[in-house]
Amino acid sequence: MANKPTNEKLVMANIRQRITFAIVESYKNTRTNIINLMAKKNAKILAISSPNASEGKSTTSLNVAITISQLEKRVLVIDCDVHKPTIHKKLKIENNVGILDVILEKATLEEAIHKHNDYLDVLTCNTIPVKSTELLNTTKFDEVLKQLSEEYDYIIIDTPPINPVSDALVIAQKVDAFVLVIRAASTTHDAYKKAVKALGVLGISVDGVIINGADPRPKGYYKSKYSYYKSGKTYY
Ligand SMILES: Nc1ncnc2c1ncn2[C@@H]1O[C@H](COP(=O)(O)OP(=O)(O)OP(=O)(O)O)[C@@H](O)[C@H]1O
Ligand SMILES: [Mg+2]
Repeated sequence: MANKPTNEKLVMANIRQRITFAIVESYKNTRTNIINLMAKKNAKILAISSPNASEGKSTTSLNVAITISQLEKRVLVIDCDVHKPTIHKKLKIENNVGILDVILEKATLEEAIHKHNDYLDVLTCNTIPVKSTELLNTTKFDEVLKQLSEEYDYIIIDTPPINPVSDALVIAQKVDAFVLVIRAASTTHDAYKKAVKALGVLGISVDGVIINGADPRPKGYYKSKYSYYKSGKTYY
């Protein structure tokens, strides 16, 4: 029997109903750009990070994964933010077993993967009392990613921010494509430059930037009534 299309809803902050359409459209544009990027690079594994905390990495990772899965592609989202895992909270799922258990060989992929719907699977990031950052820098993690890339059309990895911790730099070296989220009216130019420089030292270039919180409405639209509202994403 063929799989049913997924009606998975996007994860959104508490927003006015009237502009959700614009946000959904922004995510669809982001999806198109990411799919084109991945096709051009013959890539399967995409990591998403940002210069600093709270710029929208996890929301973006999840919504990009959901929108791609809506095209009936097999998508896995992996929470690799060992310092502040949130993907399970956003999806309201358990986090008893996750990617770190798999790397430590305490669980198989089959045991750890949460099947969210017909097209979207999730590997959460369980917190365990070991040096979890070091676990991401192992050949076992490479092997796990290789195995997963044979099973999925797209793998989206949520990471910690680049400037405060080194994990995203470790992960960036293991993936096929790397995209930065910056938050409108929040991420500074200096913070962005610092992150890009840290990546550049390792020979990693940024494949794209997603601006989170950019006003998705055409100029003049909704004029004063919603003029302070900002949400949604644009991909450049
Ligand atoms: N465009 C947006 N409009 C309004 N709220 C947003 C937007 N994007 C994210 N948020 C909210 O900002 C908070 C941080 O978002 P998120 O968890 O995606 O960021 P993060 O970069 O993953 O953070 P961390 O660095 O802590 O992992 C969340 O409460 C989220 O709902
Ligand atoms: Mg996060």
